[in-house]
Amino acid sequence: MTFGFVGTGNITEAIVAGILAGEGQGPDIVVSPRSAATAARLAALSPKVLVGEDNQHVVDAADMVFLAIRPDVAEAVVRALRFRPGQRVVSLVATVDHAALRSWIDVPVEVVRAIPLPFVATRSGVTAIFPPDPAVEALFSDLGTAVACETIEEYDLLATASALMGSYFGIMDHAVGWLTARGMPETSARAYLASLFSSLSTVAKRDASRPLEDLRHEYSTKGGLNEQIFTQFREGGGLDALTRGLDSVLDRIRTNAARAKE
Ligand SMILES: NC(=O)c1ccc[n+]([C@@H]2O[C@H](COP(=O)([O-])OP(=O)(O)OC[C@H]3O[C@@H](n4cnc5c(N)ncnc54)[C@H](OP(=O)(O)O)[C@@H]3O)[C@@H](O)[C@H]2O)c1
Repeated sequence: MTFGFVGTGNITEAIVAGILAGEGQGPDIVVSPRSAATAARLAALSPKVLVGEDNQHVVDAADMVFLAIRPDVAEAVVRALRFRPGQRVVSLVATVDHAALRSWIDVPVEVVRAIPLPFVATRSGVTAIFPPDPAVEALFSDLGTAVACETIEEYDLLATASALMGSYFGIMDHAVGWLTARGMPETSARAYLASLFSSLSTVAKRDASRPLEDLRHEYSTKGGLNEQIFTQFREGGGLDALTRGLDSVLDRIRTNAARAKE
């Protein structure tokens, strides 16, 4: 099995690093040459990674082709390539839908979309996939957890949820800043909050069948300090702002998909 990557940027580097960190044989990998420094770094990691001569060489060599270029160049890059009928094409390109990809590729191929996140590098990523596809699910299960979506609506919702990463760090940064401004050394503040948030996520994952509202109550004494912050956050419009942010990202994803169909 050979995986080919068209676009050798951050997410390709994370996926290839994750694959190489696995045990066993693993696939052969061909990456596109344009980002020479990243491609050379990946090729130096293993004899199983080769740098292709050009994008077409990557497609020709691959059983599974990953499209990992940015959305603004995707159409030009994909239209210029010749794919084999029946080839599996995994598009990581956010906001370009199946219909657009099929029309650009213009031969019958299996198109699967996926949203790997940087944690695939340490084999702890969670990756949404649409439509379900055993080979692509097997890969991303190896790199953490694969979530196969039954509908494009579900996939777009997870794409929206994945856009919370910046806010997560933003909230942590804000709280660290607040502590630091009041005299706490920054390294201690950050270590404390990172540990706290990590433990809370562990609880949410471990007790997956318990409503989060129950967990919120369990971790907030009635009339206590946790309840006080959440009440102020809600009453100050924090939850409404979060809803507006999620709504606007989902709108953007859907609008881009609709535009790509025109
Ligand atoms: N990063 C993530 O966490 C993540 C997660 C899920 C999905 N994605 C999606 O994956 C795609 C890539 O994201 P990224 O973060 O890896 O972006 P990136 O780091 O900017 O990588 C994109 C790479 O494509 C290269 N490229 C541009 N034109 C090319 C061409 N004609 N042929 C071959 N390569 C070309 C770029 O080279 P130059 O720099 O020289 O232009 C760059 O190295 C995007 O569509 C993004 O939406 C990213």
